[in-house]
Amino acid sequence: MNAPTPGNLGNPAVLPGSARSIGDILISSGRITPEDAERILQRQKKDKSKFGDAAIALGVVTKEDVDFALSRQFDYAYLPEKDTSRSPELVAAYQPFSRIGENLRAVRSQLMLRWFNSDSTHKVIALVSPGAREGRSFIAANLAIVFAQQGTRTLLIDGDLRRARQHSLFALGKSAGLSGILADRAGLEAALPVHGLKNLFVLPAGAVPPNPQELLGRVAFGALLHVAAEEFEVIIIDTPAGTDYADAEIIASRAGAAIVVTRKNQTHLSEAALLARRLQDGGVVLVGSILNDG
Ligand SMILES: Nc1ncnc2c1ncn2[C@@H]1O[C@H](COP(=O)(O)OP(=O)(O)OP(=O)(O)O)[C@@H](O)[C@H]1O
Ligand SMILES: [Mg+2]
Repeated sequence: MNAPTPGNLGNPAVLPGSARSIGDILISSGRITPEDAERILQRQKKDKSKFGDAAIALGVVTKEDVDFALSRQFDYAYLPEKDTSRSPELVAAYQPFSRIGENLRAVRSQLMLRWFNSDSTHKVIALVSPGAREGRSFIAANLAIVFAQQGTRTLLIDGDLRRARQHSLFALGKSAGLSGILADRAGLEAALPVHGLKNLFVLPAGAVPPNPQELLGRVAFGALLHVAAEEFEVIIIDTPAGTDYADAEIIASRAGAAIVVTRKNQTHLSEAALLARRLQDGGVVLVGSILNDG
């Protein structure tokens, strides 16, 4: 996955630092002994490698142990691999230091610069793309996770009332969901906290209504975003394919801003350009695009 374009995307993601070393964290969590640490340091010097890599090479710890230590070092909320309760597609939670995790943090930095930090009223963004299975739900979920990991109170809304996925990705319990709120049957309490991922709340789509477009067009949607913006710093909305229905345009216009996702070797660029133009004509700010090469 690439960072938003166009523009200079050279800024690497800046991770919040911490004074504790990986070795300290591995020792204090009982994963290695001080003697192990000594052996690892020797190996690290010899190989000129990172502490974690040297520890893995010696067979003293697993990659999961190192990920755990890294997540503690950077104060990251993450899900250990043995917690299989959520979908492995939540890569940013299960493997925060993978390439996808890094790319998503670069996207996050760009979005902070270009949108969320530039104006205190900029809190909502819709993820759109023209076709089916281009990665909108995957990116929305993982992007929401990386925002939450930096300590930002984040709400992910499943705006795909036709092929909702976020409730199953996050293995969420019962909720009236977005459709329940729009039908005036619930309030923001329908957004559920994600166990193990502090700062992240997900509002599932809810029961599939017969009339998604009519529901999304209601003023209640605007009111929901208004209330949510008081409680959350970043609100990300997943949408259905843009060329199939008008839903994505309705959502993006409520959000005020959108990111266009294109998938390598799959998205027809003419369709992406058409969708982008339609959104812009409707007054939506296009904050960037993400090339999903996964
Ligand atoms: N960068 C990626 N790396 C690995 N897998 C990916 C990536 N992007 C998407 N996928 C996978 O591709 C499939 C389709 O992705 P996803 O459901 O996010 O697409 P979508 O655009 O939301 O589709 P739909 O039209 O069904 O809403 C999923 O199985 C997802 O896990
Ligand atoms: Mg989807």
